[in-house]
Formats: sequence, C-alpha cells, structure tokens
Amino acid sequence: MVAYHRVSVEPVGREVRCREDQPILDACLRAGIWVPHSCTHGTCGTCKAELIDGEVDHGNASAFALMDFERDEGKVLLCQASPRSDLVVEADVDVDEGLELHPVRDFTGTVTELADVARDIRVVRIALDEELRFAPGQYVALRVPGTPATRTYSLANPPTQRRLLELHVRRTPGGLASDGWVFGPMAAGERVSLSGPYGRFVFRPARPEPAIMVAGGTGLAPIASMIRHALAAPSGPRLYLYHGARTRADLYCVDEFRALAAAHPDRFRYRPCLSEQTPEDPAGGGWDGGAGLVTDVLAADFDRCSGHVGYVCGPPPMVDAALKLLMRKRLFPRDIYREDFFSEADRATGGVRSPLLRR
Ligand SMILES: Cc1cc2nc3c(=O)[nH]c(=O)nc-3n(C[C@H](O)[C@H](O)[C@H](O)COP(=O)(O)OP(=O)(O)OC[C@H]3O[C@@H](n4cnc5c(N)ncnc54)[C@H](O)[C@@H]3O)c2cc1C
Ligand code: FES
Repeated sequence: MVAYHRVSVEPVGREVRCREDQPILDACLRAGIWVPHSCTHGTCGTCKAELIDGEVDHGNASAFALMDFERDEGKVLLCQASPRSDLVVEADVDVDEGLELHPVRDFTGTVTELADVARDIRVVRIALDEELRFAPGQYVALRVPGTPATRTYSLANPPTQRRLLELHVRRTPGGLASDGWVFGPMAAGERVSLSGPYGRFVFRPARPEPAIMVAGGTGLAPIASMIRHALAAPSGPRLYLYHGARTRADLYCVDEFRALAAAHPDRFRYRPCLSEQTPEDPAGGGWDGGAGLVTDVLAADFDRCSGHVGYVCGPPPMVDAALKLLMRKRLFPRDIYREDFFSEADRATGGVRSPLLRR
C-alpha cells in the first residue's frame, strides 16, 4: 500500500495529503493550490521551492534546473519531489486578480479526428467523457499508451469548449509521443487518458493593454485558444498575432486567422511570417505575409513595445529571441508571459530561463 504524508504549504498555510509516489506539485494543483509551475517535467525551474522541514525524494529533476548546491541548501522542484515524511514547503504562491483557475483532475476521452494541417503538424481532437474547465493558454498531460510516460500539449480550443479538446502536435523525429504515437498508430476512436489543466501561461483578462502575441510553430496552440476566446467577447484589448514558420508548408490556421482579422479589423491584426522567405524575395510564391524571422518582422513593425503586454510561446530558442526583442523595445519582463515547449532533450541539456521573466 502506498503511504501518504501531510504537506504544509507556506505562506498560504494550506495542508495537502500527498502520496509517497506523487509529485508535491500534483497534490497541490489537485487541491486547488496554485503553486508556480511551467513545464511540469523538472526542466524549467519555475516550481523551485524551499523545503523548510522533512525529507523528499528529488525524482527526475534536471541537474540544470536544480543544482547540487541548491539541493544542499534545501531547495526542491515541486513537480519532481515526492514526500518521504510529513513536510513543510515554502513556495511563491500568488494568484493574479481576475483569473479563474481550476484544480487538476484526471480525464478520459476518445480521439475523434486527426488532421494534417501543415508539414509534420497534426491537429488531434479528443471528445472528453466529462467537462474540463481551464483558462485559455493552459495545457494537459497526455498519457502515452503502453508506457509510464506523459507528454504535455497546450489546448487550442477556447475554454467555452469544455468537452472537445484541440491539440496541435508537431512531429519530433524519434519522439515517443509524437512520432511514435500521434503520427503512428493513433487513430480516431482510440481511448486516451490525460490530466489537467496545468500552466500559468494564461490570457490575463484584467489587463487592458494591447497584446503582442508571438508564436513559433505549434506554439500557436495556446495563443489560438486565447485569441478565439478574446475575440468571442464583445470588446477587449487589441491583439497582434505574429506566427512564425519556415515555409508556407509549415504554416497553419492561416485562413481562420485571416478571416478573424477581416471580421475584427479594429481588434485583431494577423502577421504570419516565413523565415525562409527573405525580404529580398517578397513576392516569391505569391506570399503576402511577413518575410523573415518572426522577430525581424515584429522589430520592423514596432518602434517601441511599451504600453503593451506580451505573450510568447514556442521552441525555447525562439521564445528567448522574442523576449530579448520585446525587452529591447522597452517592454518590462513583468509585462511578458511566456511558455517554452521544453522537451526531454532540454531536460538533458538544460533549459532553465531567467527568473526575471514571468511564467
Ligand atoms: C508546457 C508545454 C506545452 C507543450 N505544448 C505543446 C504543443 O501544444 N504542441 C507540441 O507539438 N508540443 C508541445 N510541447 C512539447 C511536447 O510536450 C513534447 O516535448 C514533444 O511533443 C516531444 O515529445 P515526444 O514524446 O514526441 O518526444 P520525446 O520522446 O520526448 O523526445 C524529444 C526529444 O528529446 C530527445 N530525448 C528523449 N529522451 C532523451 C534523454 N533522456 N536525453 C536526451 N535527449 C532525449 C529525443 O531524441 C527527441 O529529440 C509542450 C511542452 C511543454 C513543456
Ligand atoms: S515546473 Fe518544475 S521544473 Fe518546470
């Protein structure tokens, strides 16, 4: 029988029961305690907390996200650490005003559709047996069949759509979940298990500033959820979407976002950008969007970004480049929200980002 321990979470003074084989973060999120987290697989360091009292197993924490001296100082990664005794931990628990957050739960569902929308990008639709309530921008952890592994995918559907999930999955060559399952044997009708919602990369409804949204590849998924949600409201801040891809074959959702831009000319501007379409070759292939890296197109469009709020999501190098640009253009770190699509490779090589930047 698996043992349980009591975990006291400071400074909020809440206590949760946590199984000996359960990450402390998981127990907190299921109890509705919104502890900081991002990747949930020991890579980003966002969930780092102070162990005030008790013993833990550090689990599979990346040596980059939790260095040896930090372990010695009593730091833990809550998404990896599980209790070996009753504990007291101190985490940076804060909840932004105006956000409706929902406890993590387990769900089951059925794959209803697989659609190839771009080169090596597949949209997966899953009909859940029960409603999943989430904030736009959050993600789920999908159990990979036949393995103990889970993989995280952002929800692209708006939060009003609680039973039909939309995931955008990019193929990683040799990847367990993408290449080996979603682009392999996964088929309509297949039963799947998942948990969620996770993440703090969520649309901030209380912020009135216009939003600059930068997405690389399938980093579009959480931003699509935010845009679909925001534009369904009768009013809201102006949104600029910069979606980067290499070539036209790698870009998707173009018709949908062009239609949204045409329907909401005062609220939404769409800038798809192709990095292999250089400015010197602007008309090649009839391309009428941005030519160059998404950051170059954004840099040319905005002299200053102060007075805006930034949402950035995609592969970690793109996210870093976009953050540097936004800060150079006078946007403060506190006004930038980010989601890095860290993978197992980042866990092995390090993917820790600046603590200055918002999660
Ligand atoms: C918060 C979050 C949200 C995400 N949302 C999305 C999304 O919406 N869409 C999307 O496409 N992706 C998303 N991702 C990425 C996704 O979770 C997976 O990382 C990605 O799909 C690859 O998973 P995989 O199982 O196919 O590959 P994996 O088997 O995880 O392999 C990934 C890479 O790591 C290498 N690797 C595997 N194990 C090791 C090891 N032990 N040491 C060194 N290298 C190793 C592999 O060779 C491969 O190159 C998200 C990630 C995060 C953190
Ligand atoms: S959430 Fe724990 S290391 Fe990323």
